Amino acid sequence: MQTSQQLKNQYLQNWINEIAQLAKPQSIHICDGSEAENQKLLDLMVAAGTLKKLNESKRPNSYLAWSDPSDVARVEDRTFICSERKEDAGPTNNWKAPEEMRETLAKLFDGCMQGRTMYVIPFCMGPLGSPISKIGVEITDSPYVVVNMRIMTRMGQKVLDLLGESEEFVKCVHSVGSPLASGQKDVVWPCNSENKYIVHYPEEKSIWSFGSGYGGNALLGKKCFALRIASTLGRDESWLAEHMLIMGVESPSKEKKYIAAAFPSACGKTNFAMMIPPEALGDWKVTTIGDDIAWIKPDLDGVLRAINPEAGYFGVAPGTSLKTNRNAMLTVSKNTIFTNVALTPDGDVWWEGMTDTAPEKLTDWQGKEWTPGCGRLAAHPNARFTVSASQCPSVDENIENPAGVPISAFVFGGRRADTIPLVAQAKDWNTGVYFAATVGSETTAAATGKVGVVRRDPMAMLPFCGYNMGDYFKHWLRMPNRVAKNPEIFIVNWFRKNLDGKFMWPGFGENMRVLKWMFERIDHKAGAMETTLGYMPRYEDFDWKGLSFTREQFENLTSIDSEKWISEVLSHKEFFLTLQNSVPQEFLNIQENSFATLAKLYKENRPATDLLN
Ligand code: GTP
Ligand code: SPV
Ligand code: MN
Repeated sequence: MQTSQQLKNQYLQNWINEIAQLAKPQSIHICDGSEAENQKLLDLMVAAGTLKKLNESKRPNSYLAWSDPSDVARVEDRTFICSERKEDAGPTNNWKAPEEMRETLAKLFDGCMQGRTMYVIPFCMGPLGSPISKIGVEITDSPYVVVNMRIMTRMGQKVLDLLGESEEFVKCVHSVGSPLASGQKDVVWPCNSENKYIVHYPEEKSIWSFGSGYGGNALLGKKCFALRIASTLGRDESWLAEHMLIMGVESPSKEKKYIAAAFPSACGKTNFAMMIPPEALGDWKVTTIGDDIAWIKPDLDGVLRAINPEAGYFGVAPGTSLKTNRNAMLTVSKNTIFTNVALTPDGDVWWEGMTDTAPEKLTDWQGKEWTPGCGRLAAHPNARFTVSASQCPSVDENIENPAGVPISAFVFGGRRADTIPLVAQAKDWNTGVYFAATVGSETTAAATGKVGVVRRDPMAMLPFCGYNMGDYFKHWLRMPNRVAKNPEIFIVNWFRKNLDGKFMWPGFGENMRVLKWMFERIDHKAGAMETTLGYMPRYEDFDWKGLSFTREQFENLTSIDSEKWISEVLSHKEFFLTLQNSVPQEFLNIQENSFATLAKLYKENRPATDLLN
C-alpha cells in the first residue's frame, strides 16, 4: 500500500495502520492542508463528476455538488451514543453496548475502502493554540469531506506540528461505505443506502461514521466531535459545548457585548449571527464569531468565555437572499462549495428565496431540467453552502482570539406558530434554564424525517447532547457555582403566525429591535413589565423608528393565552416523563409553581401575562 508520508507521531501512525488494515484502501494520503493539495482534490472530483466548477467570472473558485437523493441530511435514527452504561446515554439518545456496536462496525468497515484513497485529516477545533481548542484526526475515503473539512476547521500540517507526539486527539473514522471492486466505475456520490451508522464512544472519545457523505454525518468535527463528544468533555471538565451562534453587539455609544443564542437546526442561527441592523435604529453593529457551535468555559475570574470551534459556515442556502441575509450572500460570492442547490444555464447557483422571481430555466439539484411552476423544488430544502468564516463582512475582530469572548446573555428560541411570545427575559438563572430545557420547535429539513412537527428540543441540543439529558440539565443548573456573574437568559420566537398562516413578525434585520431591548435589559436600561413568564417588553419599551408596527400587532405577537400555556406546561410534563427520573427537582418545583399560577389566572379569566398578588 502506498502512503504519502511516515509520521513522527508513532501513536497516530499505529492507529492509521490499524484502520488501513481493516478498511483496506488502495492508498493512504496524509493531508497537509496546502492550496496545491486542495486544488488537486477539487480537480479530481470535477473529473469524476462529483463537483461542477461554477462560472469563474460569476462565482470565482466555487463548486457545486449534487448528492445522492437518499443522502441529504443528518440521520438521527441512525445516530448512536455507545457509552458503557445505557443510563449515561439517557432516554433521548439511541444506545447500543459498545462491544456489540464494535462487532457490527468491524464487519461493515472490513474492506469498506477498497479501491479508494484513505485520507487522513489532522484538524483543530478552535483557534490554534487556544486553551479551549481541541485536536481531532478524521480518516475518510471521501475527497468531498477533505475539501469541506479544510474550510470548516483549521486543518493540515500545522495541526500535526501542534499535536507533536501527543496521544490526545479525538479519533474520527468515516467511510461512505461503498467499496469499489477492481475495475469498477465509481458513482458521482458514493454512499450506502442500506446501512448508515453515526456512532460515538464517549469514554474512548472516538467517532465511527458509515454510509453517508453528507454534512453532519460526514464532517465529523462538527456535530459528532464539537457537540456530542465535546458535551461529554464539558460535563467532565466543567464547561459547555452548545448548539449556539456567537455574536458581538455594539451600541451607538460603542459599548460592546457578546451574546450566544441556541435555535434548533434551520431556525435562524446563521441569519441572526450575521444580522444587519436597520439604519433607523442608529449606529448599532452586529459582528459574527460563529453561526452554529459555541464552546464556553469559565475563566479564572469566573467570566464565561466562548470560542467558535469551527472555521467556516455550513449554512442553509434556501431562504438566503440579499434581503434576508446580505452578509451571507456576500460571504458566498467566491471560494464556496455549494451542495444540492440548482445550477443556472450560465454556470451559477440558485435556490428558492434567493431572488423574487426564479430564473426561466434551471437544472435542479437532482440534475433534472427545471422551469418555474414545474411543481418541484429547484434546491433541496437542506441545501447548504460551505465557506470560510474569514470571508464574512461582519466577521468579529476576536474570531481568532484564543481567549474567546465574554458572554453576557444566552438566548433560546424555537420555531413555534403559536403560544410562545416574541421575547421574554427569565427572572433568574434556574427559571431561564427551565425555559431553555423546555423549548419546543417544529422540525425542519435539516434532519431526515417528518417536517413541521413540534417536538421538545432542549437548548436546541436534542440531537446533539452526547449524554443523559437530565445530567445535562443539572450541569447547566450548576454553572452559577463557577461564574462570577450569571449571564441573563432570554427566550425568543420569530415564527409566530396569524390566523392567515402569515408570520406576525418581520424578523431578519428587524430582530435588531428585540436584540436592542435584550442588550439594554442586561444593564437594566430598558423598560419591561413583570409577568408570569418573567420580564416582557411593553409596546413603548421597543424602539419603533423606521418600522410601522402597531400596538395591536405587538400585543397579538406577545400575548399569552392561559389555556394554551396550560397545555404547553402539560406538554413539558409529558416530555419530563420521557426523561424518566433524571429531571432535576428544581425543574419540578418551577413547573408546579407556574402550573398553579396559570391555572388560577385561567380560572379567574385573566391573561397569563398578569401577576398573581
Ligand atoms: P443549522 O445550520 O441547521 O443549525 O441552522 P441555522 O439555525 O443556522 O439556520 P439558518 O439561519 O440557516 O435558518 C434558515 C431558516 O430560518 C430559513 O428558512 C430562514 O428563512 C429562516 N429564518 C431565519 N431568520 C428568520 C426570521 O427572523 N424570521 C423568519 N420568519 N424566518 C427566519
Ligand atoms: C444542523 O443540522 O444543525 C446543521 C447542519 O448545522 S449539519 O452539519 O448537517 O448537522
Ligand atoms: Mn446546526
